[in-house]
Amino acid sequence: MKKLTSVLSAIAVLLSTTTFAHQPGEAESFFTKKDLAEKHLIDTGNGKPKWMPLSDALKLGQLAHESGRCGGFFDLTGMKEVSSKPLVPVESFRLSLADRAMTQQAYLAESLSILDTQRIFKTVSDLSAFRNRFYKGEHGVKAANFIADQFRTIAKNRNDITVSMYGHKRWDQPSVVVTMKGTGPNANEIVVIGGHEDSINQSAFGSTNMNAPGADDNASSVATILEVFRVLVDTNFKPNRTLMFMTYAGEEVGLLGSQEIANDFKSQKKAVVGVVQFDMTGFPGAGDQVVFMTDFTNPDLTRFSQKLMDTYVKAKWSTDQCGYACSDHASWHKAGYMSVMPFEATMSGDNKDIHTTRDLISKLDFQHGLHFAKLALSFMAELSQ
Ligand code: BES
Ligand code: ZN
Repeated sequence: MKKLTSVLSAIAVLLSTTTFAHQPGEAESFFTKKDLAEKHLIDTGNGKPKWMPLSDALKLGQLAHESGRCGGFFDLTGMKEVSSKPLVPVESFRLSLADRAMTQQAYLAESLSILDTQRIFKTVSDLSAFRNRFYKGEHGVKAANFIADQFRTIAKNRNDITVSMYGHKRWDQPSVVVTMKGTGPNANEIVVIGGHEDSINQSAFGSTNMNAPGADDNASSVATILEVFRVLVDTNFKPNRTLMFMTYAGEEVGLLGSQEIANDFKSQKKAVVGVVQFDMTGFPGAGDQVVFMTDFTNPDLTRFSQKLMDTYVKAKWSTDQCGYACSDHASWHKAGYMSVMPFEATMSGDNKDIHTTRDLISKLDFQHGLHFAKLALSFMAELSQ
């Protein structure tokens, strides 16, 4: 990330040239002047949160992307405070990871071959057809309902699966949280797969009518999660640990949905033993490889996931750093849970069209995307047993 100070000083310039609030003749704005002036508690990842008007926070991301870099932040306003100290069962699970054997070869030999790129394509196509999936406004709510309906259709014959809308008090879009109950003695331990469902167009974020297809960022991951869920259900997989599938609201404006959920789980002392985060899985910007982000993630869980790559996915992988809290894995990490973030490219090779009207399905490679679905399915099957 560019130095925060230079970004902050550039905000002053931008403030004088752009407004988010409603202008005559333009589409309605999501934000009133009062919303934009309201002070939010923003942490850029250095653990030193600052109060600033919402308009400044939103511009942090926009400015950074315009200068070719990203600038993530946690919006901490109204969030429950939780300790980042890991729970005891989570810590003991971490210690067991290095020696953990792979046991799901037989199951995965069959189920990996059932993953279907055409279904992933169809879901990305359906999701990017929403005008936007912004965390405020009717489109983002409709998109969340659409995702929940897909889960419900797949799970219709299973009474051990629940699909729920996780409502957030401070914005419209709910997250979607799906639970497949564990059947073993470790059923109280949870494995999470997640990715954000919202989208944004950073040159129009005031507009209720913004055009934000978000095919790569992040319909690609929602589609991956749904397809992995379909295969687990179609193969009648019964996990020992509990499996949860989550699509988060409001990632693009400060990791909002995932922070509320991770902090809520922590305050209830839920033993989440591993979280895999998918955010952009379709653009092979650094060749056909999976890139593991090594910041705001757990090295032991990352190492285990790299073993899954070698054992089951059999595709190339490497490592890189976001350099800031770039996605929802950071919310879990901050709450003391282990997360891993396999990404579509290196930072320098990432898809430059995200957050614009050009983040379209035509740019994506579904064979590249299949590696992420395979990794996801192996992760859920292995960690659940
Ligand atoms: N998918 C991006 C994160 C990303 C972009 C990772 C490019 C690696 C390369 C995510 O949706 C996003 O846009 N995150 C914001 C930060 C967020 C906390 C507001 C960003 O990168 O600016
Ligand atoms: Zn984004």
